[in-house]
Amino acid sequence: MQVFYNNKGGQKMLDQTFYQKADEIIAFYGKKPASLIPIMQDIQGVYRYLPGELLTYVAGQIGITEAKAFSVATFYENFSFEPKGKYIIKVCDGTACHVRKSAPILEAFQKELGLSAKKHTTDDMLFTVETVSCLGACGLAPTVMVNEDVHPKMTPEKAIDLIRELRGDQHD
Ligand code: FES
Repeated sequence: MQVFYNNKGGQKMLDQTFYQKADEIIAFYGKKPASLIPIMQDIQGVYRYLPGELLTYVAGQIGITEAKAFSVATFYENFSFEPKGKYIIKVCDGTACHVRKSAPILEAFQKELGLSAKKHTTDDMLFTVETVSCLGACGLAPTVMVNEDVHPKMTPEKAIDLIRELRGDQHD
């Protein structure tokens, strides 16, 4: 993935391959307004985020306004405009997890990865750590999700072990 900056106000510009990939995805779903969500899902599936510039392009191609495309993308919290890491760690901080001490688990992840409440993704783009309000697995609290996998009954120690395991696993 190549993202670089132009000289005008430091705005991000995308590599041409992003547009080629978007064209393939648009061709698959068809140039119509109803294709917006599946197109956005596929773009995010490829890049792990939804580049704003690409969303503007998609809007033009399927005949909707840029404002409409952005309002749909921001409505669904699964869409992200920020690049995310290979491993997206969601630490649940809903009520059930919070009372079973999710806060020290979050701190353990952040400390191990050099992240904070403001910095969510490691510079090597391996890990993103975020909090969510409920993962729907309250009986297993405190719960953490890494990509599609649920990790039940977490502890700060298990969090650190998990990071070490994933780091060893990164070349798969
Ligand atoms: S509150 Fe954490 S899974 Fe529901």
